[in-house]
Amino acid sequence: MYAFALDSEFAREVRCGLTRTEQKTLPCRYLYDDVGSALFEAITHLPEYGLTRADTRLIQAHAGELVDWLPRNTIVVELGSGNGMKSKPIIERLRRRQIAVYYPIDLSSTALAKCAEELAPLGAVCPLNTSYLEGLREVAERRAEGQNLLALFLGSTIGNFEPEAAIDFLYAIRLTMHPGDALLLGTDLVKPVERLLAAYDDPTLVTAAFNLNMLARINREIGGDFDLRQFEHVIRYDEQAQRIEMHLRSRIYQIVSIRGADLIVDFVPNETICTEACYKFCPEQIRTMARTAGFRLEAQWIDEEWPFAENLLVAV
Ligand code: AVI
Repeated sequence: MYAFALDSEFAREVRCGLTRTEQKTLPCRYLYDDVGSALFEAITHLPEYGLTRADTRLIQAHAGELVDWLPRNTIVVELGSGNGMKSKPIIERLRRRQIAVYYPIDLSSTALAKCAEELAPLGAVCPLNTSYLEGLREVAERRAEGQNLLALFLGSTIGNFEPEAAIDFLYAIRLTMHPGDALLLGTDLVKPVERLLAAYDDPTLVTAAFNLNMLARINREIGGDFDLRQFEHVIRYDEQAQRIEMHLRSRIYQIVSIRGADLIVDFVPNETICTEACYKFCPEQIRTMARTAGFRLEAQWIDEEWPFAENLLVAV
């Protein structure tokens, strides 16, 4: 006997995305259950996917400069910390001159536990198992008089927002800050199409598994009967929008039922579900985005091997 939460947010969003008359969609945040998170971690080690290594290299290379720039008495809050390993060089630098206080925010309690274990020797680690903005608001409200804030939003997760939503999100961050507080924002840059396509369509099929796991998750959690072998992973690049799109394409005509979403939906051959958009940026676009959201771009570091920018934004 299965009991499905007919009214869960997941079920509602699946229903809404799969009943759209034009492009069917599924929200990319549902890619990250335990299996999806493990597959994403594997993606970050793929030779074709240079994004995470570039992010890590830039932080290692510039943590000193970044911390030298920060005002005394700065606390660090990371939106989507995972195990916190990427930000470790920043915390290490910070503790050379002050007591380091680090608030990692993540929806995965497993990742937060790992993070606390790894970084506790460097200072006070206060994990927050909540959404990015709720966590950030909590930290901002809790901070003591005279404490400054450095927020980290790394890994180009901002590229998984639609452009308007990205600005809204940055502005929501800005609203929690005081002038002079800072945001370190990681952004993947535009690069040759072949490089991008290879990064999201690796020959070992790890990204394909990551994408297909979305359907497996629907089967597991809300009683879907997707036959995963009848869908294939497809990547498209929209050059004008500077956007990689991840899709699942139906190989045949098929009917799928999802009990927990109270839904029966059909797919014609070659019809796709769009599961993720990954926007790529030009360095100047980040300056404009920052300005629109109430920040100034104080510094920008670009990786030479894999075009990726680490941007230091300061609240004005
Ligand atoms: C998490 N995010 C920044 C990744 C990206 O590259 O947009 C997600 C991803 N999707 C497929 N591969 C990696």
